[in-house]
Amino acid sequence: MNPQLTDVFCKLAYLLATALFIFSLHWMSEVKTSRRGVFAGSFAMLLAVAATWVSNGSPKFYLWLVIPIIPAIVIGVWLSMVPLTAVPQRTALSHAFGGLAAGLVGTAKFYYWYGHEQNQLTKFIVTAIILEVILGFLTFTGSLIAAGKLQEIKWIPQRPWIYKGQNLVNLGAIGLALLLGVMVIMNPTSAWAPWVFGLLIIPLALNFGWMLVLPIGGADMPTVISILNAYAGLSAVAMGFVLDNKLLITAGALDGSSGLILSIIMCKAMNRSFTNVLFGAFGQVQSAGGKAEQKSYKSATAEDAAQILESSSSVVIIPGYGMAVAQAQHKVRELHDLLTKRGIDVRFAIHPVAGRMPGHMNVLLAEADIPYDKLIEMDDINGDMPQTDVALVIGANDVTNPVARHDKSSPIYGMPIIDADKAKNVMVIKRSMNPGFAGIDNELYYLDKTLMLFGDAKAFVADVVKELSGGGGMGH
Ligand code: TAP
Repeated sequence: MNPQLTDVFCKLAYLLATALFIFSLHWMSEVKTSRRGVFAGSFAMLLAVAATWVSNGSPKFYLWLVIPIIPAIVIGVWLSMVPLTAVPQRTALSHAFGGLAAGLVGTAKFYYWYGHEQNQLTKFIVTAIILEVILGFLTFTGSLIAAGKLQEIKWIPQRPWIYKGQNLVNLGAIGLALLLGVMVIMNPTSAWAPWVFGLLIIPLALNFGWMLVLPIGGADMPTVISILNAYAGLSAVAMGFVLDNKLLITAGALDGSSGLILSIIMCKAMNRSFTNVLFGAFGQVQSAGGKAEQKSYKSATAEDAAQILESSSSVVIIPGYGMAVAQAQHKVRELHDLLTKRGIDVRFAIHPVAGRMPGHMNVLLAEADIPYDKLIEMDDINGDMPQTDVALVIGANDVTNPVARHDKSSPIYGMPIIDADKAKNVMVIKRSMNPGFAGIDNELYYLDKTLMLFGDAKAFVADVVKELSGGGGMGH
């Protein structure tokens, strides 16, 4: 193809890809348009890769590209097939790969230019390279640890791993990496620069990543992942400057800012500050874990539950991680339909961090075709809880624990919760009295008005549905 024409095609493709990335984020912010958002983002990425491909015409270049692309596609497809409950750790792995790629590109560029074209190593470019490499490599190891914690890999501690003076050591490590970075920026062509770069700056960044994430408890991993997402995006911005690629700059900026915004939203949802998430060793306090058996609680059967539901006029269903594990959403939809048909007002209370990823409950309930207007955000539904006849908790735990309101020693203190305890009656479907993600006992289960409905969420809801449809021997 004529080189000028190719250049015009690439510029246009980059422009279109940039616009599509922006629309993609916009569409993904609503469940209704989210599929369109995913397709737009994927198409934009394909366009970007195609344009980059044709803009570098040498056959040798094509061969070098094909070799890594084939295994990358295989790994990518394999990773995309993980169950929905494993998406957070899969996302963390994607960030790890993104960070590693940025770190390696920065490293390659630095050494290539140092050996061949030292005049390229301007202060601006070296600053971009240093930022790209530090952010990229710390994202790599930090995201690997975050993925390991979420996957509950045995040799990675779930609880915060802490020691005295830890924050000082961590800040010292990153401070030293930045200081050495400034030295290299000031003297990029000196004889010692490649040594400091490769033997000190890169290892310090790699070390800082895992040291930053290990002290953070599993419950804070979603926030950590979106912070790491922001770092990966910023690292891509720096890479865009290094490679003089405007699309990388805009795509990285979108990635970085959306990661940051998501982190802020999640911090707000848990009533925590950034510094508290990063340096607070959340989840370290283990309170009341073993007291469950000593306190008394009431349990009931599916038949009892069906009767209570039938005689109510308003029901708020509070779904959580257990509904996702049990894949109970379709049975829950049947329950919703049966109750609605009887003229009962059924709504769903959605906590921003219910489940294991942002929007987890929305995605599951949308998959089961529950109307969007039935999904009510926590702040909007809490005011209605005192007038609600039944709060039906399905596989949710931490997000309903009243301890978050008053027990300052609790690791979830200050986290806003769905006020299930304020409803007239409470029913909780879960398999046992075991704690949820934060590892703490739930006060809700011991209230006088609470009935525990023990069983797998899908099987139990199916039993209630059977009772309500007359299959369980109930008279109507
Ligand atoms: P959790 O507190 O994790 O509680 C889930 C409950 O589901 C467990 O107590 C478990 O009790 C029950 N369960 C598990 N499998 C079940 C099954 N097959 N059938 C019925 N019940 C089952 O969940 P939550 O209330 O949704 O709170 C989310 C927690 O995860 C918060 O602490 C949050 O900070 C954290 N977190 C959130 C995210 C995001 S972004 N959403 C990501 C990572 C972590 P049994 O074992 O007794 O059945």
